[in-house]
Amino acid sequence: MKSTAISALHVETVKQSRIDQVDFDNLDFGKVFTDHMFVCEYKNGSWQTPTIKPYQSISLDPSASVFHYGQAVFEGMKAYKDAEGQILMFRPEDNLDRINKSAKRMAIPEFPKEYFFEGLEALLKLDTDWIKSGAGNSLYIRPFVIATEAGVRASAAQEYMFFIICSPAQSYYGGEVRVKIEEHFSRAASGGVGYAKAAGNYGGQFYPTQLAAKEGFQQIIWTDAKNHEYVEEAGTMNLFFRINDTLVTGPTSDTILDGITRKSLIELARHNNITIEERPVKVTELVEAAKNGSLKEMFGAGTAAVINPIKGFGFRDERFELEDVPNSYASLFKKQLTDIQYNLDADPFEWRYLV
Ligand code: COI
Repeated sequence: MKSTAISALHVETVKQSRIDQVDFDNLDFGKVFTDHMFVCEYKNGSWQTPTIKPYQSISLDPSASVFHYGQAVFEGMKAYKDAEGQILMFRPEDNLDRINKSAKRMAIPEFPKEYFFEGLEALLKLDTDWIKSGAGNSLYIRPFVIATEAGVRASAAQEYMFFIICSPAQSYYGGEVRVKIEEHFSRAASGGVGYAKAAGNYGGQFYPTQLAAKEGFQQIIWTDAKNHEYVEEAGTMNLFFRINDTLVTGPTSDTILDGITRKSLIELARHNNITIEERPVKVTELVEAAKNGSLKEMFGAGTAAVINPIKGFGFRDERFELEDVPNSYASLFKKQLTDIQYNLDADPFEWRYLV
């Protein structure tokens, strides 16, 4: 359902678009941004008049809270264009709900729904030429909030800025993905911020991921912080395993992100009469399944990554490779999901949102 606008959105457009400088056939994920951005400040206890303005640098006091205490949360969303040139989004209300859930955990004020949808839709319409139609093309949308109040007192800031920036995108991972099951470092502990899209959740993964990259892995499979016994998520993706013909994924918890692609795949699995189990998955179960051949597929699911097959994984000194399977679940779900996203098929779940 669409919301009604209540803000007086202020719009300032670019004099000259940068779009002609962009090679849309060779996009490096997240490097190029569209002509405009959405900005809204929070001060004196309320969100101020939102603005759309030319994409530009911002100036902050060096003592601003975000730099010292990492009070920042974000979202990842996508817009698509169908053959008729209509702009479509996928379950955007869920992203707003999640950024507000993340914000609450980080003591950041929630962002009003009306401001969000009014700003987002105006931004997408203004930068519509940056959204290319055709398989694999999308506009990656990054809403985020940062604490901007000056001062190094370690407490929740009184001033914030909410932004939406947009980047034309193709695939997130360039080639095959292999993952390392991590047993030393942890991503999230019970009672922590693992379920939130808090900036620091991602920054904390870079060092262990760099170490894994030296061993030839593109990503890490995080395990529970307590005993490193159960698999959690991959940092940029939720994880799915096909054991024989059953699809298995870990349950969401306070340490796992409640992925929108994840929950859509669970619904798609049910729709396809595929047995889906949401339950804790032991590392030993995966290793055993890889050894006895019952582990048929592994894949990650996320907004940026879409559905990404995982070709193999490493655990301690062992490496496991997965053979390609006929009738792959990953391929089936990717087709069904993207057909809905790109308006190539019916949308029985009502996930599409027409801008
Ligand atoms: C997304 O899939 O949108 C994410 O947030 C993952 C990542 C690019 C940080």
